[in-house]
Amino acid sequence: MLARFSDRLPWPIPANPLSRALEARKVRGLPVLNFVESNPTRVGLGMREDGFFAALGDRAVEGYAPEPRGLPSAREALAQWLRSLHGPRAPGPAELFLCASTSEAYGWIFKLLCSPGEAVLVPKPGYPLFDYLAGLEGVEAKSYRLWYSHPKGWSVDLESLETGLKDGRTKAIVLINPNNPTGSYIKPQERAAIVGLASRYGAALIVDEVFYGFPLEAGGRSSFHGEEGVLTFVLDGLSKLLGLPQMKLGWIALSGPRAEIEVAGGRLEIIADTYLSAGTPAMRALPAWLGTVPAFQAGLGDRLGANLSALRSILEGPASPHRVLRCEGGWTALIESPRLLEEEDLALGLLEQEGLYVHPGFLFDLEKEACFASSLILPPQEFQKGAEAYLRFFSSLS
Ligand SMILES: Cc1ncc(COP(=O)(O)O)c(C=O)c1O
Repeated sequence: MLARFSDRLPWPIPANPLSRALEARKVRGLPVLNFVESNPTRVGLGMREDGFFAALGDRAVEGYAPEPRGLPSAREALAQWLRSLHGPRAPGPAELFLCASTSEAYGWIFKLLCSPGEAVLVPKPGYPLFDYLAGLEGVEAKSYRLWYSHPKGWSVDLESLETGLKDGRTKAIVLINPNNPTGSYIKPQERAAIVGLASRYGAALIVDEVFYGFPLEAGGRSSFHGEEGVLTFVLDGLSKLLGLPQMKLGWIALSGPRAEIEVAGGRLEIIADTYLSAGTPAMRALPAWLGTVPAFQAGLGDRLGANLSALRSILEGPASPHRVLRCEGGWTALIESPRLLEEEDLALGLLEQEGLYVHPGFLFDLEKEACFASSLILPPQEFQKGAEAYLRFFSSLS
């Protein structure tokens, strides 16, 4: 008898025609401008000052002192840093859990809150990773809607959120603040309504703030660190905060009603103790590295802002059929263009004709067509070339 597998994911998962075309193009040795490159180490953001990585080589890393929540020295530095940003209500060292990445943090929290077959609510449009993260825990990722009005921007459809909470098996609302790829922060009035709904239906909040420190066209933003109204898990990590995904260090900051923190923290500690996945070198380096966040965010913030402005000036001339959706923050901009062909065919055409690789909006469940995502972390010259190639392709069609 052959080995049998779980049905946590709908595998085998076939490659889509766009990624097959990308591979084929690479095999043929043809150039590709990856307009959705999101790996910071591939866009020139990996270089650090001399001595930066010396923090990893501390002799103390020779020892191993397992701590379920992570090294106290790292959590103390992190708590101090969070307080400097978010004030005295930000979680202290005892409410912080270090892990390998925010993706892993989701897995831990889904295990903590959901039994197999239960559900969490995730934003739509949103990042496709959630179907996998939830599926791998035997959990359903149901969606609530975000809707767009130009030029005001994105809003949470609170009615769809409440509908999703009513089935009695939905244990958490996932908020991405700001969301990927819509770049929308949770507004203060939305926050009050969401906390109220979560509390009424007994759902926890899981708030992903990996892009929080990269505001662009933000009207207002508020961090959920220290939220007291409902059990809240705020996620962040070095992957985006310092553009260091290879260091594999993320964290969960817990807050909410005191009694609930105690129960959740105790259970989460058992999960954390089972895996003990945060690496000692990165935890040792964290206190020194946190001091470099302002410079990193300022430098990358300038690049994101310059690329967003270039995108607007290249694509939004008078009578232009393209528009760049309002982008409050994060690393991604969305472009809406005439639907001259199916979205996938447009993306295939861009790749074939211009060597430009973009993500079509259907990958993120965007209702609008035709929409395409572009990564704002590219070096500005390359980004500008990409935006010009995008314009040229559409001009050639119309
Ligand atoms: C919103 C969001 N959260 C989390 C992640 C993954 O972060 P990590 O590398 O810490 O797992 C991504 C990756 O792009 C993301 O877009």
